[in-house]
Amino acid sequence: MQLQEKSLNKKVWNKMAQEWAVGIPIIRPSKMEVALYEECLQKIIHKRGDKIKALLLGATPELRDLLAKYKIKTTLADINPNMIKAMGELLEYSDGKEDVVIANWLKIPSKSNEFDVVLCDHGIHHIFFEEWGNFFKEIKRLSKNGGYVLNSVVTVEEAEKLDLEQIVDVYRNNIFTLENRWYYAYRFCCGLKDIENKRFYKNLAEMNLQLRNFLKQGKISQKEFNFLELPFAISEFKFVMPTKEEVDEISAKYFKIKSVNVSFAHPMLTCHKIYFGQFEK
Ligand SMILES: C[S@@+](CC[C@H](N)C(=O)[O-])C[C@H]1O[C@@H](n2cnc3c(N)ncnc32)[C@H](O)[C@@H]1O
Repeated sequence: MQLQEKSLNKKVWNKMAQEWAVGIPIIRPSKMEVALYEECLQKIIHKRGDKIKALLLGATPELRDLLAKYKIKTTLADINPNMIKAMGELLEYSDGKEDVVIANWLKIPSKSNEFDVVLCDHGIHHIFFEEWGNFFKEIKRLSKNGGYVLNSVVTVEEAEKLDLEQIVDVYRNNIFTLENRWYYAYRFCCGLKDIENKRFYKNLAEMNLQLRNFLKQGKISQKEFNFLELPFAISEFKFVMPTKEEVDEISAKYFKIKSVNVSFAHPMLTCHKIYFGQFEK
């Protein structure tokens, strides 16, 4: 399979580039998550000094600003120049002058043993689970011995599966925020069959498809549909969502897990786990 085919949602990113500014947490790291990244970054600077070099996987503006805040020399690797440009317009702190590499994270044309820290916000779920080993192998190659990784992953536990009837029920009987909508979308997604015979491979937009059927069948009102529908102007947003056990197991094969950081500010955020680890070579 060509390397290009190993990255998901390519069309999505061009669309996303136009809509990013309106994105909310899941698409953009929340303030709580950025604070967790910053805490770990301070520990790294404390250990390795402030002349560290960072590799940022994905054009996430919040992390570009965080690295700029600490004047950390940064290389940004992203497969989609449109996203890098679009995200550049959202920078508040950074001058956007990182060293940029347009490449697939599975094969980054940079020297080995180069970086003190590799960061990736919600990027790995855009790679087939079958390729996660190669993803970790590649970032380990690029990292210095003793270098660190900050990798955020979305995981929902088996026990949390929910179908659409149950979600509509919760919506009708509780105060329901936009964050709740994402949280229940995760729980709905977790219960879906894997697609294309790929492990944990789900279509996050499947909920919209089923909501549209519910609307046609009169099971929900237009108002309920408008609120529950996810802001994807697309019918597919493919997502790799393993269980935490699976993520722990594969991560520990490539780096020493120092901590798994979670914000408890909202149940949705408890699904966003930031793995803080160290490579031993
Ligand atoms: C960092 S991810 C996270 C976006 C968002 N927070 C989410 O949850 O989906 C988004 C960025 O990753 C880039 N990207 C996705 N798959 C990639 C791959 N295999 N190699 C390089 N860049 C990739 C996309 O172009 C996009 O700019």
